[in-house]
Amino acid sequence: MPLDLLQSLDPAWSAGDGTSADPALADHVAELSALDESLGRFYAAAVTALATANTPAELRERQLALLGRERGVVTHALAEMPALSVDDRKRRGKGLNLVKRWLGEAEERRRRALEAAAESADAIDVTVPGLRPWVGRPHVLAQVRDELLDLFHGLGFSVYTSREVESDDYNFGKLNFGPDHPARDAHDTYFVGADVVLRTHTSPGWVRAMEERKPPLRLVFPGRVFRAEQVDASHMDQFHQIDGLYVDRDVSMAHLKATLNTFARSIFGPKTRTRLIPIYFPFVEPGCQLDASCIVCDGAGTVATAGGTKRCSVCSGGGWIELLGAGMVHPNVFRAVGYDPEQVTGFAFGMGLERIAMVRHGIPEIRLFLENDTRFLEQF
Ligand code: PHE
Repeated sequence: MPLDLLQSLDPAWSAGDGTSADPALADHVAELSALDESLGRFYAAAVTALATANTPAELRERQLALLGRERGVVTHALAEMPALSVDDRKRRGKGLNLVKRWLGEAEERRRRALEAAAESADAIDVTVPGLRPWVGRPHVLAQVRDELLDLFHGLGFSVYTSREVESDDYNFGKLNFGPDHPARDAHDTYFVGADVVLRTHTSPGWVRAMEERKPPLRLVFPGRVFRAEQVDASHMDQFHQIDGLYVDRDVSMAHLKATLNTFARSIFGPKTRTRLIPIYFPFVEPGCQLDASCIVCDGAGTVATAGGTKRCSVCSGGGWIELLGAGMVHPNVFRAVGYDPEQVTGFAFGMGLERIAMVRHGIPEIRLFLENDTRFLEQF
């Protein structure tokens, strides 16, 4: 009785389908079974054992159990050939050689498949979205400031920066605020010492610049300012301003208007209409406020909605947006810095950067500027 090869195969190995390792499995089994029924069954089980090996090591182990020189069952079966009858030897010999060849091919096919799978597991998946590097950007206020400085640079203004901690005299006195003047109420400030405050506006820079330099001068004063405000959606106890100052012979209100119109149209668009309204500031005479036609409703005061119209929320229905304070430099300010008000005149203006950024970008809440929440900052 020749060796029953199936007996020496681990039955656990042959659960599954062998066609992935031998696509011609059915034909091969039929061909073998015609020679020797048991060889057909063995071959089907052996190919399945190879096809279901899950790792190269498992495959190697099964290959050795089947075809190995020392322990391979096929090797053993071939070794007993001389003991068989001539007739058996012929059929069995032919069958075993086919088994040996086809199992070799099946083993190789499975090995390739495992290698290919390992390669694609390591491979770079070019369809995976990349990791975006975290890229910083200028703060929205810095962007607005730089845009304005650029604009004023084009109009001939240079930048002058000065201290955030000021003496009472520079913040108020030399700017023509009398010691008990009610205008100080609008500038309720933080005192650092008896006569030292956190500046409430960037206008003290004019005084410093004029004390240092002779006219003519054309300067802008960007910087942070402080006021003891009740904080809410439109008030912070620190914010940013840009003042402008132009001093020369015969500077007039017409120069001021032209400069402010250029400014308003450059930041809010060429169709922007403006108006000047008289208003009091101690350091200018006359003083005015610049309004621009609302950029959202274009001065109408209402905006269209699905069901009709509603009040424009940016200008609160008025059609105008207050942009800044301005005016002709008060003679007392010139006197305080040693300029002769009979010789020179000048205009000045001062604006809040937060306010301009809020109108420009539709930002509803001033506190967002300082919170440093990247979800907000990334939008600009
Ligand atoms: N300094 C003023 C303020 O902060 C603004 C201003 C500047 C007004 C220049 C008129 C002229 O309120």
